[in-house]
Amino acid sequence: MKFFVDSADVSAIRELNDLGLVDGVTTNPSLILKSGRDIMEVTAEICALVGGPVSAEVVAPQADAMIAEGRKLAGIAPNVAVKLPLTWEGLKACKVLSGEGRMVNVTLCFSAPQALLAAKAGASFISPFIGRLDDLAIDGIDLIGDIRTIYDNYGFETQILAASVRTVNHVLEVARIGADVMTAPPEVIRKLAVHPLTDAGLAQFLSDWEKTGQKIL
Ligand code: E4P
Repeated sequence: MKFFVDSADVSAIRELNDLGLVDGVTTNPSLILKSGRDIMEVTAEICALVGGPVSAEVVAPQADAMIAEGRKLAGIAPNVAVKLPLTWEGLKACKVLSGEGRMVNVTLCFSAPQALLAAKAGASFISPFIGRLDDLAIDGIDLIGDIRTIYDNYGFETQILAASVRTVNHVLEVARIGADVMTAPPEVIRKLAVHPLTDAGLAQFLSDWEKTGQKIL
């Protein structure tokens, strides 16, 4: 499973990228707001840092304006994936932009039929938001499973990008069920390394090592 970082914080992305953990990045208007940066500038900076797809989201409501915005965002760098909302207008824009050979990430997906439409419109990525479904006591992992089944049934090449990933368990479950990609905030990716038994085991080893009186360097 590929790891995307859900952030527009360049220093956090750089830290994870230096560890080889970053296959791509996703941003959205809320993350751009949080970064305090200009969308064109920060997207260019992230694209230069990360080799993989970097999603940048359009904000226009109508297809024609989405297409214009998408072309402008795609002009930032060859690894920009234009992020479009899963609306009827977004699907129209998806068909046009993917037909031009551009990467498209269809976002704000909350149902398997929506995901089927995005695949048929040529999306490179579909982003089902599992955390926001969990907030409503609807199982987001089931949604990933349904989309996996449907895409595999018909050989769609659209990659399932599990989004709104908020917990270590979300990462485990989407990996189990076969998401192609997951995108999570830097703090969730860091938490994947944490286990209390690792900490306790290390403390014991270091305490015993001190008693040996030895040094390695
Ligand atoms: C994905 O592309 C979105 O930017 C993101 O995962 C949304 O996550 P949230 O529901 O935690 O805001």
